[in-house]
Amino acid sequence: MTKSKRTRVAVLFGGRSVEHEISVITALQLMQAIDPAVYEVTPVYIAPSGTWHTGTELLNRSFYAKVPGNLSSLAEVTLLPKPGVGGLTKLSDHSIIPIDVFLPAFHGQYGEDGCIQGLFEMADVPYTGSNVVSSAMTMNKYACKVFLKEHGVPVLPAQLIARSDAQRDIRGAVERVLAHDGYSLPLFVKPCNLGSSIGISKVKDASELAAALAKVFRYDTHALVEPCVNEIMEINCSVRDHDGIHASVVEVPVSQSGVLSYEEKYLRGGGKKTGQSAGMASLTRVIDPQDLDPEIKRNVVELATRSFTVLGCSGVARLDFIVDLATGNLYFNELNAFPGSCSFYLWVRSNPRVLYTTLIHNMIETAMKHHATGASLDRNIGLKALRS
Ligand SMILES: Nc1ncnc2c1ncn2[C@@H]1O[C@H](COP(=O)(O)OP(=O)(O)O)[C@@H](O)[C@H]1O
Ligand SMILES: [Mg+2]
Repeated sequence: MTKSKRTRVAVLFGGRSVEHEISVITALQLMQAIDPAVYEVTPVYIAPSGTWHTGTELLNRSFYAKVPGNLSSLAEVTLLPKPGVGGLTKLSDHSIIPIDVFLPAFHGQYGEDGCIQGLFEMADVPYTGSNVVSSAMTMNKYACKVFLKEHGVPVLPAQLIARSDAQRDIRGAVERVLAHDGYSLPLFVKPCNLGSSIGISKVKDASELAAALAKVFRYDTHALVEPCVNEIMEINCSVRDHDGIHASVVEVPVSQSGVLSYEEKYLRGGGKKTGQSAGMASLTRVIDPQDLDPEIKRNVVELATRSFTVLGCSGVARLDFIVDLATGNLYFNELNAFPGSCSFYLWVRSNPRVLYTTLIHNMIETAMKHHATGASLDRNIGLKALRS
């Protein structure tokens, strides 16, 4: 394939999210794994402030230690919400950087929650991963649980607390939570719309509950309160759509504290030898544990595949489950529409084995297909009401 025939892919990452730096790690891994014979990559970094930048410097990990001071060395770009532009627009001279497909590699708000997907739809460009509604549904832990429960997927009960209510009357909010049927202490409190274990707490009494809610409301407008699973085992499974829907092997992340913290997910494993985190790929985990009950494995795979399907997800997702070891009950916990490290470490261990390069290639193929399907829909019924 000649250089000019390569598919031009914009990899977008960073963004206005608390998971900003995890996205940078995921994107750097991804851009190393993408096949350079087939794809020409344009890295697009969205700074924490929300400005978009491109330049080859973005391929160096060391660049990010000096942000935002060094951003002025890059070209500032944007994607106009206008069909037919053909790529990114440089803000300096309005020239176009041609792009064939967009690959959002964000974790969290504005990138994994339907916002940027909405912009891609407006611009009428092919993009990888889940669409607007699937991204939005899976980002909102409460909406996702309610929806999946409706489809027969077991979930832990959850109470949704709005920041505005709690701020008006925190005592009342705490009392209402505790008065709820089946809500005995300890409880588990988490932000409704965040990931990476940011703002989560296990609470043992009413005053801890008030403090835990205050912690969530630093980051999110809504908190979820769940019964705490004291004897917990977590099982994750990745699902992707490419010529059908496929599940990876499962993994059991191993935690030292009983709850997976941001530090455990991103700083512990990979940081030891190199001083650099490799994101989700560095977590201490057992992949495809041989001593795990095959029935649990089967259930996880079945529930993961069903959840991905009914939510209408696309690309590569990771679905996280909780086993209550005291009862043996299995619960869906959350769906990451674009998981850390794109879950490549699970796919290289799956049968059939899927290399990261293939995973990305398939995501892009699927994106092109979806865009072509969208383009085949008739949206123009002509002017009738206005002309009558
Ligand atoms: N109800 C619960 N009881 C006990 N531990 C929980 C519960 N919910 C979550 N956890 C622990 O907290 C971690 C983070 O919670 P999770 O819902 O996965 O949010 P995040 O999106 O931040 O990853 C989980 O990996 C698990 O270790
Ligand atoms: Mg999680």
